This record gives sequence, C-alpha cells and structure tokens, in this order.
Amino acid sequence: MCLLLLVVLGLIFLYRRYRQGLILENLTGKYVFITGCDSGFGNLLARNLDNRGINVLAACLTERGAENLKKETSSRVHTVILDVTSTQSVCAAVKWASAIVGDKGLWGIVNNAGISLPCSPTEWMTKEDFFKTINVNLLGVVDVTIHFLPLIRKARGRVVNVASIAGRMTISPGGYCLSKYGVESFSDCLRREMKPFGVKVCIIEPGVFDTQITCVELLKKGMKTSWDNSSEEVRKSYGEKYYQQSLDFLDNVPAMCNKNLSLVTDCMEHALTAVHPWTRYSAGWDAKLIYLPLSYLPTVVTDYILTIKSPRPAGAI
Ligand SMILES: *[C@@H]1O[C@H](CO)[C@@H](O)[C@H](O)[C@H]1NC(C)=O
Ligand SMILES: *[C@@H]1O[C@H](CO)[C@@H](O)[C@H](O)[C@H]1NC(C)=O
Ligand SMILES: *[C@@H]1O[C@H](CO)[C@@H](O)[C@H](O)[C@H]1NC(C)=O
Repeated sequence: MCLLLLVVLGLIFLYRRYRQGLILENLTGKYVFITGCDSGFGNLLARNLDNRGINVLAACLTERGAENLKKETSSRVHTVILDVTSTQSVCAAVKWASAIVGDKGLWGIVNNAGISLPCSPTEWMTKEDFFKTINVNLLGVVDVTIHFLPLIRKARGRVVNVASIAGRMTISPGGYCLSKYGVESFSDCLRREMKPFGVKVCIIEPGVFDTQITCVELLKKGMKTSWDNSSEEVRKSYGEKYYQQSLDFLDNVPAMCNKNLSLVTDCMEHALTAVHPWTRYSAGWDAKLIYLPLSYLPTVVTDYILTIKSPRPAGAI
C-alpha cells in the first residue's frame, strides 16, 4: 500500500517535471514589455530575453538606465522612459509599444518596477510615506496592466507580476508589504478574469535579494528622515537608543540578501516561455524555507520569532 502511494507520488512528480519543462517553440519574434529595467531583476531579465532572441520593450525610469541597457544589448531591445505613477506616461508607453508590435500584439508584460522606502517604524511615518510606495508598487501595476491588456489579449499573452514573499508574510513596516499583498490580490482576481481570453497571469514572489530596494545606505537614509521628521512626543517614547539600534539592525540586511538575481529572472523567464507556467513562483531559499513556512505558523509563534531581536523603545512597559 505504502509502495503504491510512493509510486503514484513519484509519477505525479515526474509528470509535473515533464510538464514544467515544456517550452514554447515560437519565442523569437515575440515581444515582451518590462518595467523597471534600470537595474536589478528588470535589467537582467531584459538582457536574458534578448539573448534568447525575444524582442524586449524595456521601460526605464531614467535616461541613464535606458542608455546603459542599450549599450549592453542588441537591436532587439527597445527602450522607453516610463514613470508608472503617471497615467500620462503609461499611455505614452502603450502608444509607443503598439507602434512597434503592430497587429501581433504583445506576448507579455512584466510588472517589475518597485520601491521599498520609506520603511521605518509606523509611528515615524505619514500617510504620504505609505502612499509613495503603494503608488509605485501597486497602483503602478494596476495602471500599467489595465492599459496594456488590450495588446496582451490580442496575442493571448501573459501578465507577470512581481509581488514578493512580503506579499505572503509581513516582514517590514511601511507601504512595501501592503503594496505586495495588494499585488497578490490584484493578480488573483485578474487571473480568473483573463482565463476566458487565454491570457495567463503569473505571480513572482522573490525572497530578500541584493537590489536597489535592499540597499543599506538608502534604508538608513529613509529611517533617518522619518526619525528627524517625527514629533517630539514620538521621539521621546521611542528614544535615541531605539533609533540607533534600528539603524544598526539594518547592517544585517546585506547578509540576508541573496546575490544571485538569476533565481528570480529564471522564474520570470519560465512564466513567459513555458507552455504551462505556474501561477506562483517563490524565488530564493529564504522565501521557500523561511518566510513561506513562517506564514503558515500560528501568529503568536511568528510574532515571537520576528521580534526576538527587536530593540525596546524607551517607553516600553
Ligand atoms: C509559430 O509561429 C508561426 C507564425 O508566427 C505559426 O504559424 C505557427 O503555428 C507557430 N507554431 C507554434 C507551435 O505555435
Ligand atoms: C519632513 O517634514 C517637513 C516639515 O513638515 C516636510 O516639509 C518634509 O516634506 C518632510 N520630509 C519627509 C521626507 O517626510
Ligand atoms: C545562480 O542561480 C542559477 C540558477 O538559477 C545557477 O545556475 C547559477 O549557478 C547560480 N550562480 C551562482 C553564482 O551561484
């Protein structure tokens, strides 16, 4: 009986492996639009897809990012300047993309652009601080997706949204996790709505990686600004020591960061090129072995583990 179960499980495993390995035949000539190609995952993905003969429409926030990418890639990579928080900018990008892809439509969009700051203790921040992150990471994804869907439907293509393990488990304060939970929810709904059109929606959930959003200097700068801008009452309640310890804690971030960005872009590439893409991809061993399992534990246990090393505020009882 036990043996039979093992055989069945083994067969299921092999079948999944086989199914997962089926890659689309007609990749060359397809067009994929990617946001946030200045650096990090978006930049690497643009270069990888280029190497595989896929045409890349790479959206960068800065001119410099676009120029640098151009230098490192073939004529298959086209760049455009895009600010995902501006509907006007998004519409201009759609117009630009339609002119390039023509009747073929767009095979994929990868909503990758994101920011993480500020992520200071909640009381040190303002509504505007939360809005800033949510505006890029969530509303930007919503706006880009809505405007690009007609081109995607035409090609029965794919929408690949970069959420985060922080969209499954809250690991930092501020708008970042909120926005990533939002991306998960938005993608779930979109997946169900797009099924009848033959459009697939995939979610990428990276763990903690070494990109712009985990840059220690920027994280510290953000925390300093929030602290400096906090009210006298708040600063007294938390205390200078708490602030210093919070800054020092950020020194641990680099050690927590996975340096191999390919782990994430491999998932994105699979989502774009596999005959049967997965719905969710967790990328990185920390996502798979720490954060995801933590998210299923009872809240008291998760809270205990996540706050073991937290500093104590001056006003702690
Ligand atoms: C590949 O593309 C060509 C033309 O674009 C199409 O005729 C053909 O059916 C495609 N093949 C597959 C396997 O999708
Ligand atoms: C800090 O506070 C000042 C004065 O209220 C404000 O002008 C400034 O925008 C704030 N900075 C940030 C980053 O919130
Ligand atoms: C990065 O990950 C890829 C798998 O996606 C692996 O093939 C490669 O060897 C890794 N590189 C390093 C430096 O570990």
